[in-house]
Amino acid sequence: MHRFDVVIIGAGAAGLFCAGLAGQLGLKVLVLDHAKKVAEKIRISGGGRCNFTNRDAGPANFLSRNPNFCRSALARYTPQDFVALVQRHRIPFHEKHKGQLFCDDSSEDIIRMLLRECEQGGVTRWQPCAVAGVRQAGDRFELDTAAGPVRAARLVVATGGLSIPQIGASDFGYRLARQFGHAVVETRPALVPLTFDAATWAPFAPLAGVSLEVGIACGQGRGRGAFVEDLLFTHRGLSGPATLQVSSYWTPGQPVEIDLSPRRALAEVLRAAKAAGSRRLLRNELAAALPARLAEAWLEAVPQLAARPVAEARDRDLETLAQRLHRWQLVPGGTEGYRKAEVTAGGVDTRELSSQSMESRRVPGLHFIGEVVDVTGWLGGYNFQWAWASAAACARAL
Ligand code: FDA
Repeated sequence: MHRFDVVIIGAGAAGLFCAGLAGQLGLKVLVLDHAKKVAEKIRISGGGRCNFTNRDAGPANFLSRNPNFCRSALARYTPQDFVALVQRHRIPFHEKHKGQLFCDDSSEDIIRMLLRECEQGGVTRWQPCAVAGVRQAGDRFELDTAAGPVRAARLVVATGGLSIPQIGASDFGYRLARQFGHAVVETRPALVPLTFDAATWAPFAPLAGVSLEVGIACGQGRGRGAFVEDLLFTHRGLSGPATLQVSSYWTPGQPVEIDLSPRRALAEVLRAAKAAGSRRLLRNELAAALPARLAEAWLEAVPQLAARPVAEARDRDLETLAQRLHRWQLVPGGTEGYRKAEVTAGGVDTRELSSQSMESRRVPGLHFIGEVVDVTGWLGGYNFQWAWASAAACARAL
């Protein structure tokens, strides 16, 4: 029987960070992972450059059934704390936009940094190593692993979410939570492209590749998300940052509301053109404010209007067209699923976890950190910040 103070299941962002911190606090730590390669999600993140945090991350950037749960951890381990660590390891980085910090060179820099921190903490890592079962034996946890039985006083579950199953994602953390009597908030793909049935999408499918800045919103009340970001048309539906952001708030049957010109009132643009006596066709006038292919696709529905010079159009028609472009409502048929989702929304119900230590209120010594918990960040470095912050809260309490 191998003996450790702490066993961490999952050598991803949260698991490795927690392992390094706990090791450096003097604990004997084992981190194990069933995947062959370490921290594969960090490697592929941010297009290979890992958007490792967001300067402005705060509780408002996260979704959870219990929105206050993330406050304490985020306040006690901030983006500035992680930036200080990155600087200490001399990793070059830059801000892309909206506070998003990326490595200049490669995500590998962040993985190497986490592994070095683990080394400094004398952490043992077994990988690949599957866990067949976990049970409580008195005040200890016993694990049956591919490398033999292991016993520890503390067990940290850092197995992440369900997205990208081909690189090691599994439902192990949720199953373990249920085994120990925890509720799991229903999981769903988030930060994911939205799809439409073929008939609804037929008029827009030829726009695949068109991209523009939009206002986008979905949901009601506290469950409403609203963003101004870039939208991308695809053959099957909508993608791009705007869609990914709003997808986390979307539930089947709900419409997504899109403002195709969030910074310019189109009614004013068209009225001004008419007042100036413009002989340009409406199609050409609109193409000055929207991508030409998109303007054409919209005007196909109003051919008489489209064929006339703006100067001859009725005010009312211009107004109606502008309003529709500002308030386009579409009901997606679904999403691209976990295969394409960046994260999993839902997860281990936070109402049975301590927000200070991420420890189970049901089973002393059992902790859940990172994406497996029902805390889901926006696109833009927030999910990694949650991984670091929840890992730090846990490590300090071990
Ligand atoms: P993570 O998924 O990192 O680690 C979980 C680990 O547990 C994995 O190594 C897995 O193999 C292991 N595991 C699972 N089941 C197991 C089992 N049964 N036994 C043993 N081990 C098991 N976020 C962000 O903030 N900025 C970004 O740039 C990006 N970019 C990005 C791109 C893409 C393509 C994806 C899919 C995701 C992102 N993300 C992101 C999200 C981010 O990667 C994610 O939220 C964090 O990696 C979550 O960290 P965790 O440690 O919780 O899980």
